Amino acid sequence: MSTTTLAPMPIASPLPAALKERGVLIVGGSSGIGLAAAALLTGLGARVTLIARDPARLSAAVDGLRATPGASVLGVAGDGTDEAVLEQAIERAGQVDHVLVTAGSLAVGALLDTPHQQVRAAVEGRIWGAYGAARAVARHLPAAGSLTLSSGLYVTRPIAGAAASIAGIGAVEALTRALAVELAPRRLRVNAIRYGVVDTPLSRAAMGAPDAAAMAAAGAAAPLGRFATADEAASAVLFLMANNFVTGTVVTVDGGQSLI
Ligand SMILES: NC(=O)c1ccc[n+]([C@@H]2O[C@H](COP(=O)([O-])OP(=O)(O)OC[C@H]3O[C@@H](n4cnc5c(N)ncnc54)[C@H](OP(=O)(O)O)[C@@H]3O)[C@@H](O)[C@H]2O)c1
Repeated sequence: MSTTTLAPMPIASPLPAALKERGVLIVGGSSGIGLAAAALLTGLGARVTLIARDPARLSAAVDGLRATPGASVLGVAGDGTDEAVLEQAIERAGQVDHVLVTAGSLAVGALLDTPHQQVRAAVEGRIWGAYGAARAVARHLPAAGSLTLSSGLYVTRPIAGAAASIAGIGAVEALTRALAVELAPRRLRVNAIRYGVVDTPLSRAAMGAPDAAAMAAAGAAAPLGRFATADEAASAVLFLMANNFVTGTVVTVDGGQSLI
């Protein structure tokens, strides 16, 4: 890719309402934060394309979103770490202005019990998934387009038994800053969101909390007395997509969890 210097970054309303009729690709859109972002964006009148691997769950997510009057929602089943899947999704979506990557897993295991091969796929999927998404963004998005990546509290408040995965998430934050510099001349923006615990299927499974009551009990000790809702996490995505002057930033949405 050659880097072309364009006109200055366009000035537009920085409010989420400006995302109406914008094309948004969500890599990891059938559950949790990605699905919540898709619902918020659909409500604003954005055109949304979701990528996820499990076709049944993806199809249920798409059907649910299409219940919103006027919704424009497309599902593409596949592995979002595969650039060919991203290319196919962008081609089917028509124009894409913003990309959100939430796909990613946390591989755990104590250091001495866990050879790197055991956690390699999760670590590599996170790094190369973000890298591949950035390549697709650089190839296809217009000026003022954006890429939003996902990080987590463990980067600054690590737990034991997840060192390689945490390093992979930290790499995503480093990638965010490096890509922001590299893509700025094309007037493309790159940001990440560092989430605390958000009530989603992922965190419920990780915490062994099967339902809302168990999550409420687990979250009672958090600074604000609960964990985030997926909507609260996803609203930061809308802020980053809409504001043309934010790039290279890691926004924290953790209810103060990193402070204690
Ligand atoms: N929830 C939290 O408390 C929390 C905290 C810190 C950071 N995060 C990070 O935030 C992100 C979103 O978390 P979440 O809680 O919303 O997770 P989630 O509820 O498990 O949703 C993850 C979504 O990504 C999809 N996905 C996963 N791997 C994929 C791949 N390789 N290709 C395409 N789609 C893929 C999943 O569908 P398929 O499985 O069908 O592909 C699903 O739609 C993750 O990166 C997570 O590590 C979450």
